[in-house]
Amino acid sequence: MRKDVIIACDFPSGREVMTFLDRFEQEKPFVKIGMELYYAEGPDIVRELKRRGHRIFLDLKLHDIPNTVKRAMQVLSSLNVDMTNLHAAGSSAMMQAAVEGLTRADGTRPVLLAVTMLTSISEDTMKKELRIDGTLSNTVIAYAKSAMASGLDGVVCSPHESPMVHESCGADFLTVTPGVRFAESARGDQARVTTPAEARRLGSDYIVVGRPITRADNPVRAYQKCMNEFVGG
Ligand code: C5P
Repeated sequence: MRKDVIIACDFPSGREVMTFLDRFEQEKPFVKIGMELYYAEGPDIVRELKRRGHRIFLDLKLHDIPNTVKRAMQVLSSLNVDMTNLHAAGSSAMMQAAVEGLTRADGTRPVLLAVTMLTSISEDTMKKELRIDGTLSNTVIAYAKSAMASGLDGVVCSPHESPMVHESCGADFLTVTPGVRFAESARGDQARVTTPAEARRLGSDYIVVGRPITRADNPVRAYQKCMNEFVGG
């Protein structure tokens, strides 16, 4: 399961997500559900999207004591999500507990990713407020290595960080990358953007694309364009 486009379904209600996804007649896109939608609709939104045949990245970014994260991950695993995540800053003990919690009786589990440093955090904020010494890049790499050593499958990062993550953690360690825009479209609030084709060249394994698809005049065509550029024909 490599190289795919994940649509960030950042809608305020389940009804709006279903209306949006009803436009897709041929494809069953991989979708990302974030905090807003999950907190509004609860686990039923996951069950409904699974029933409709979508793969799901549940983006809840867990961060708590190991035992709490382990038990929460057990619940998410029983919902049969395909991919979920946590903050690497929660420590290797928390990440290992998360892997244990996610692993089902038959040994299978959803893909587990770590958020290293949020892209909203600048190096200055990291140093002054989070009190972490060193460069942002070195911190991202240290967190990615810690995630790999804890048994995780990859990280959420900028496409520009994909090469250094793969260099440090190996080609099989997944990079799932937001911040993607078509060459001709608006950036929105993303500071550094990459086209799907450039993300492919940089070695991203999955791209997470929201508004360029959800707000397109023709979302199905925008999704197909993204797939063609990123995955190839
Ligand atoms: O609409 P857009 O393509 O910017 O959506 C990107 C998605 O990826 C959003 O759901 C956003 O929350 C998420 N994301 C991000 N940058 C990160 C982590 C997650 O844009 N560093």
